[in-house]
Amino acid sequence: MNIRYEVNVPLDPQAVASLFRVSGIDRPHDDLRRIERMILGADLTVTAWNGSQLVGFARALTDWCYCCYLSDLAVARDYQRNAIGTGLLKLVEDEIGDSVTLVLISAPDAKEFYRRLGLASTDLAFIVRRKR
Ligand SMILES: CC(C)(COP(=O)(O)OP(=O)(O)OC[C@H]1O[C@@H](n2cnc3c(N)ncnc32)[C@H](O)[C@@H]1OP(=O)(O)O)[C@@H](O)C(=O)NCCC(=O)NCCS
Repeated sequence: MNIRYEVNVPLDPQAVASLFRVSGIDRPHDDLRRIERMILGADLTVTAWNGSQLVGFARALTDWCYCCYLSDLAVARDYQRNAIGTGLLKLVEDEIGDSVTLVLISAPDAKEFYRRLGLASTDLAFIVRRKR
């Protein structure tokens, strides 16, 4: 499979919403205005493409010097288990560099994926969940 990766390229909210839907990730894919704001508000996006088809997406918020929150990591279901998630995460790590801590909240079904990639889990995280 010839997958191409891009960093911070312009993205069509509809394509991102469709990717969210076909990946199985729980995101507001019916609310295109919110998806557009999620894209515009990101500091870092990494995308995976098969030709012109968006097949993987990572979205992060960072100050580029100390911390980075990886909010979304999604790979289209038909493309999962082909190392695309690994590639996206690796590029996020490369982009933010060694001085930045990467933080994320795993979906229940993705915990093993992050463990396999060597990320450390913690019981020191606290969260105020969004209400809508
Ligand atoms: C989680 C996700 C991003 C992983 O992407 P992917 O491209 O399928 O993962 P990779 O192919 O890079 O997998 C890397 C390793 O993790 C394993 N792995 C991937 N997903 C896994 C899962 N859900 N459970 C257990 N192991 C998993 C792979 O088998 C592979 O193991 P190996 O190196 O021993 O072969 C992708 O499955 C996805 O989009 N899932 C739905 C949305 C989601 O849960 N996103 C995470 C939100 S926090």
